[in-house]
Amino acid sequence: MADATWYITTPIYYVNGRPHVGHAYTTIAADTAARWQRARGRDVFFMTGTDEHGQKVLQKAQERGMSPQDHVDDMVVHWQRTMAGLGITYDHFMRTTDARHVACVQACLQALHDRGELYQDTYVGWYSPAAERFWTEKDLVDGKCPDTGQAVEKVEETNWFFRMSAYQERLVAHLEAHPGFIRPESRRNEVLGFLRKPLGDLCISRPRARMAWGIPFPFDPDYVTYVWFDALLNYISEPGFLPGGQAEPRFADTWPADVQLIGKDILTTHAVYWTTMLMALGLPLPRCLFAHGWWMSADGAKMSKSLGNVIDVDLLVGSFGLDAVRYFLLREIAFGADGQFSYEGFLTRYNADLANDLGNLAHRGLTMTRNWLDGKLPAPGPPTSDDAAITRLATEVVQRFAAGMDGLDFQGALMAVGDLVRAGNKYIDTCAPWTLNKEGHTARLAAVLRTVLEVSHLALVLLAPVMPGKSTELLAKLGRTEGDAAATLRALLDGGEVLQALTTGTEVEVGDPLFPRFREMPEAIAALFAEAEAAAPPPKPKKKDKQAAGPPATITFDDFAKVALRAGTILEAAPHPDATKLLVLKVDVGEPEPRQIVAGIATRYAPADLVGLHVVVVANLAPATIRGVESQGMLLAAGGKEVVGLVQVDADPGEVVR
Ligand code: MSP
Repeated sequence: MADATWYITTPIYYVNGRPHVGHAYTTIAADTAARWQRARGRDVFFMTGTDEHGQKVLQKAQERGMSPQDHVDDMVVHWQRTMAGLGITYDHFMRTTDARHVACVQACLQALHDRGELYQDTYVGWYSPAAERFWTEKDLVDGKCPDTGQAVEKVEETNWFFRMSAYQERLVAHLEAHPGFIRPESRRNEVLGFLRKPLGDLCISRPRARMAWGIPFPFDPDYVTYVWFDALLNYISEPGFLPGGQAEPRFADTWPADVQLIGKDILTTHAVYWTTMLMALGLPLPRCLFAHGWWMSADGAKMSKSLGNVIDVDLLVGSFGLDAVRYFLLREIAFGADGQFSYEGFLTRYNADLANDLGNLAHRGLTMTRNWLDGKLPAPGPPTSDDAAITRLATEVVQRFAAGMDGLDFQGALMAVGDLVRAGNKYIDTCAPWTLNKEGHTARLAAVLRTVLEVSHLALVLLAPVMPGKSTELLAKLGRTEGDAAATLRALLDGGEVLQALTTGTEVEVGDPLFPRFREMPEAIAALFAEAEAAAPPPKPKKKDKQAAGPPATITFDDFAKVALRAGTILEAAPHPDATKLLVLKVDVGEPEPRQIVAGIATRYAPADLVGLHVVVVANLAPATIRGVESQGMLLAAGGKEVVGLVQVDADPGEVVR
């Protein structure tokens, strides 16, 4: 098969409820991968959609007093609206009630029946309506469905079965021959483990008398198709598959899919049901099935509606903007691992990575260009060793980013850009353009600011698939279009030189910072907390409440004068041996020996970023032992529980700060 198209799918989502963060997560990840491959120059086909048949959907329709078709037609509007709100650039939105899909499912059933792949049998089992599947007696936990904990019904009925067991050996052989087929590795092992036990056949029908909301069997009017058998075929029905050599020509360009993204909850249905169905239809298997992890609440539990435990995507988007949400979901946890969500964690990462690092880099570059260089994009100058170092890093970052995005390691890709952005801010501090300006070194000042703007530009060219809105915003400030950015990216991937994309003399626009800093939780989220707190019983007073009361409204000057503040320079920084949030620093405060200071700043700073920073030290604080390490003072920093940034001062070590 020619397979010229890069084809990526998400699961199709049940329309028995509204979309939530889990659905948003899979779809944003797929959208990011699709945007990246398009930017790379590939012909992409990206499909998502809704799974509209089956018992769960029928039940919901009945609860709403609607016909199932009216119910799904109504629900799909919410799903499509949510996808639009998340900036999802699907090429097709699949609905399993579409005529093309129904025709494909029926043709596949007929073909498999003609080939003797299906047979009828009587089954006795326990049916779980919540999980839409049968269990044997020994699978049950306390007589309930092991997956959902809900009640099960004893069912004895005659159904149609697919000879799935016949493909067990072939499937194991495929998994063994293709290590990258099921990812991550842990999920591949899980499937191989599952396949060590004999594989049964798959019940693929439901008697119409019991559950009529499904695709009718073409050769037996008493049955409709099991929802999973129907739903899995969506991946080939839209691309134009029909059995018996009837497929549309474009099908050969699209199938096999390059990536099928799923959550870990639906691994078996994809890795076992779907693959064996494809084998029976004589089709190749997808190149990669990637099962990502689950978002959990901060205490590691599954999400529920209780406070802080459910992630409200609309609220996050409304408060922080869509691009920040897309960034957070992909940056916060490794793709494949589970993650815990908290609004505080979101705020901290937003302020650290986006407001303080990325947004600040761009804003500093633009503001200095406007203030000192007439707002015209400055000309490059002869490179110094600082320029050579950042160019080397940028070249490496492009490669790391591309490898991460190609391999669905979104976190790794975003960390690479983070390294570049932090290096950009450090470059500004080292080159001190304010001094160059003051002393009239205009050519060097221009060269430095050019590099800063090039670094900001490169970061947002790379980040475009994750943060399309902010990327376009920065490009516009630099007088560039998305088309220019795409050309830059392709040139870079072809081995072109980094940091040479911008046009000298272009009028730059400063405008608002890309990511405004939030000093406290945005109002709408704070209101949610307040509401929940008001509804909750009053908490028992804690011992620490006295300290938590905060400083008094006023103090005397004498009180203030008791605090000795000194400028210091960080000489060394290392992780604390016994606490992940702490760092152990050596700080020169103008005394014969540097001070050892333990600081709770590890969530904000990597040790390597601290060396050389000019900070403010509380020099007369009584020494204390913090988790076994002596601390001789304290650094001033902004932020409440989580540090947002260190207070920095342009002064020699030991200088008095007042
Ligand atoms: N309709 C089936 C899939 C059929 S595909 C042929 C289905 N639908 S679903 O609406 O339940 O969506 C399941 C998908 O939503 C999961 O596979 C996963 O992608 C996503 N998630 C649902 N909750 C999630 C989290 N809490 N965290 C991350 N993703 C999760 O199953």
